[in-house]
Amino acid sequence: MDYFRIEGGTRLRGSVRISGAKNAALPIMAACILCQGEVILRDVPDLADIRLMVKLLERLGVKVWREDGTGEMHLMVQDETNTHAEYELVRQMRGSVCVMGPLLAKRGLCRVSMPGGCAIGDRPIDLHVMGMAALGGRVELLGGDILIKAEHGLKGTEMFLAGPFGSTVLGTANVMMAAVLAQGTTVIESAACEPEVVDLGNFLNACGAKVTGQGTHRIIIEGVEELHGCDYQIIPDRIETGTFMLAAAISNGEIEIQNCDMNDMLAVVDRLRRTGVNIEKGDDRTAVVSSSRRLEPTPIVTLPYPGFPTDLQAQMMALLCLADGNSMVTERIFPDRFMHVGELNRMGARLHREGPTVIVEGVKRLVGAPVMASDLRASAALVLAGLVAEGVTAISRVYHIDRGYEQIEAKLSALGAKIQRLQE
Ligand code: EPU
Repeated sequence: MDYFRIEGGTRLRGSVRISGAKNAALPIMAACILCQGEVILRDVPDLADIRLMVKLLERLGVKVWREDGTGEMHLMVQDETNTHAEYELVRQMRGSVCVMGPLLAKRGLCRVSMPGGCAIGDRPIDLHVMGMAALGGRVELLGGDILIKAEHGLKGTEMFLAGPFGSTVLGTANVMMAAVLAQGTTVIESAACEPEVVDLGNFLNACGAKVTGQGTHRIIIEGVEELHGCDYQIIPDRIETGTFMLAAAISNGEIEIQNCDMNDMLAVVDRLRRTGVNIEKGDDRTAVVSSSRRLEPTPIVTLPYPGFPTDLQAQMMALLCLADGNSMVTERIFPDRFMHVGELNRMGARLHREGPTVIVEGVKRLVGAPVMASDLRASAALVLAGLVAEGVTAISRVYHIDRGYEQIEAKLSALGAKIQRLQE
C-alpha cells in the first residue's frame, strides 16, 4: 500500500495549476445518461472517484473514453437496458447516487443501492428519494436498494428540498437531472447554491435544458423533450484551491494559484485574511497567497455555500493548530467529521472535541509522526501538517487522498515540498 513520507520545514514557493472540480465533474458525468449524442467534457481531473464513476457509467451502457493527460473526456450512451447502480460501486463512492435522477428521467426506472454511512458520518439519502417521489416516481425498498419507477415519465412540481440541517448538494443535483425531462415546470425551494450545482445547471442548459435560478435557493426547471450532447468545460476545484492556499499559509510560503475562481472562495478568503494571510487576486483566474509570520486564531463554522465549506474544515484546522491563541471550529454539515483530530494530536496539536465543536489550542510547533489517513479531506489536513512539522511524517492509506487530489505529491514537490510516495 502507498504511503507519503514528508520532511517538514520547507517554505513552499512557485505556481500551481488547479484541476477541474471533482464534485462538479461527478454529477455532470452522470447527467450524460440524459443526452442523445456525444458529450465532451474538459478539465475532468484524473482521480480514483472519477474512475469509479466511469466504471459505473460503463456498466450503465455509457461509452467513455479519455484523451490521455489532457483532462478531455468523451461520453456517449450506447445501451439503455441496465438501470441498476450496484452496492459494490455505490458503497465505494457515495457520489454514485447521482445516477438516480438521470436513470429515472431517461429510462423510467432506477435501482440504486443505499450508500450507508462513511468515515465522515451517517449520510442518508432520504431527500433524494423524496424529490423523486414528488416528481411522480414510485419508490420501493428491495434488498438494501431503492427501486424507483416512472414508466409514464415524471411530472414537474414544487418542492421544498431541505432537512433540519439545510439544503443538500447531490440531492439538488439529482432532482434537477430528473426534472429536465419531466412534463411541465419544477420549482426546487431551498435548493443548494454550491458552485458545483451551478455548473451542473449550466451544463444541462448547454445540452438544451431550461434551468434558471441555479446559484440561488430557488431553481426552476422547465421540462424539455430531449437533451443533446455538448462540449463543456468543468469549473476549477475550489477545495483543491483552498488546500493550496492553506499550504502557502501553513508553510509561510508564497504560491501563485492558477486556474482558480476566487468568487467561489469568499468565506475562505475572509477567514484566511483574518488570520493574517495575504491574498492578492490577479486577473485571469489567478491569485497569490503568502504568509510570513505566526498567524492569528479565528473561529470557523462550516455552513452550506457561501459559508465556510466542510470540505476545508480539516485542512483549516491544521493551520489553526499553529495560530497564536485558541480557535473554535464547529462542524454544522457533518457533525462527526473529525477523524483528523486524533491524528493531528499525535503530531503535537492540542485539539479538544466537544460534540460538533473542536477547541484548537494553538501550539508553536508540530512534530512529525506516523499517522493514518481516514478520509479524503482529513488526509489533506495531515499532508498540510506534515509540510510544517519538525522531522518526518509518514501518512499511511493515501488511497483516500487519491480519491480527490490530482497528483498532489507532484504539485507539492514542484513547489519545493519534500514529499515522496513510497510503498509499505
Ligand atoms: N442529508 C440528509 N438527507 C439527504 C441528503 C443529505 O439528511 O437525503 C444531510 C447530510 O447528512 C448532511 C447534509 O444533509 O448533514 C448535507 O449533505 P449534502 O447532501 O449536501 O452532501 P452530499 O451532496 O452528499 C456533497 C459533496 C461532499 C460535501 C458535501 C457538502 C459530492 C460528491 N460530495 O455531498 O464532498 O462534503 O456535498 O458540501 O459532491 C468531499 O469531496 O470530500 C465530500 C465529502
